[in-house]
Amino acid sequence: MRTVFWDYEQDTVNLIDQRKLPWEFEVAAYHDYRDVARAITDMVVRGAPAIGATAAFGMALAARQSKAADRAGLLRDLEEAANVLNAARPTAVNLSWAVARQLQTAAQPALSAADIRAALLTAAQTIADDDVALNKRMAAHGAELISDGDTILHHCNTGALAAVDWGTALGVIFTAHEQGKRIHVLVDETRPRLQGARLTAWELHQRGIPFDLIADNAAGHFMRTGQVNIVLVGSDRTAANGDVANKIGTYKLAVVAKENGVPFYPVVPTSTIDLNLAHGDLIPIEERGPEEVTAVFGHPIAPIGISARNPAFDVTPHRYVTGIVTEAGIVYPPFGLNLRRAVEQEQKEAGTRD
Ligand code: MRU
Repeated sequence: MRTVFWDYEQDTVNLIDQRKLPWEFEVAAYHDYRDVARAITDMVVRGAPAIGATAAFGMALAARQSKAADRAGLLRDLEEAANVLNAARPTAVNLSWAVARQLQTAAQPALSAADIRAALLTAAQTIADDDVALNKRMAAHGAELISDGDTILHHCNTGALAAVDWGTALGVIFTAHEQGKRIHVLVDETRPRLQGARLTAWELHQRGIPFDLIADNAAGHFMRTGQVNIVLVGSDRTAANGDVANKIGTYKLAVVAKENGVPFYPVVPTSTIDLNLAHGDLIPIEERGPEEVTAVFGHPIAPIGISARNPAFDVTPHRYVTGIVTEAGIVYPPFGLNLRRAVEQEQKEAGTRD
């Protein structure tokens, strides 16, 4: 089952509820785009590509909900929906990328209101289908970096649950495993929301890929003692110069990786590359509620009433990045030049595929 999908009989957006995994497998159906936005904020769905596809379906839902009979009225309602969806989470650029694509689709002058409603659903389905196909292409490139016998350190969850299917960094691991390479994964638990322990461990376990769950604090020990061959992570937004925003804790991993000569590769679809931002300091970093730090699943782990800080992402400067795996190939420094080339190449090839 895909992480996010449209139900063509009920006209609903459907999401695997990732807050409940690995204990319960539940799919939630949404009839209102505002609830879709809330589901993104509350992390029913999370992971940059999955958030993007969800927002695209959210726009299709908003078009169906709108009572507007004419094109101008519908476009006004869609602008409002775009604002609500864009505000759901700030760091993953796939969200605003997908919403902007949907607004562009809706703005085509020849379309009537009925045409726009149909076109937005088709476009959302295309974004979802493309995501799966491009993840497979990206994974094939990334798998070239993996040798038989490698141990891979992985942070957060970047698998099928973080995308529409297959995934980014974890997608590389799935492909390397399918190729018959004997690999082992060290899975960062990824405090505070434990995406590694709950979701990555669940996905690897289901596929029978050997792994050990480790406390985040153990990663440095494994790298210093020569037990890690490569670090693979995802990204929520990569700036034009190759600075990479990803789940909090990624920066620390990258610095320790460089100190110990371990290659560090973010796996990043071109939709996650934001060429409008010159460097990583311009990337908005989401700060979530302190209760995610002071409690685990509602159980307090600190004195009641204390204050806590909870940045959900950090930025890894590009000097710590060995290379960036994209669906257009593996990009190496100088990132400023080569990331732009990869994005342009992918846009050209996507045009040819259409
Ligand atoms: O807060 P989350 O769980 O949405 O964070 C997810 C990540 O940091 C992933 O590494 C990122 O979205 C890229 S993976 C597809």
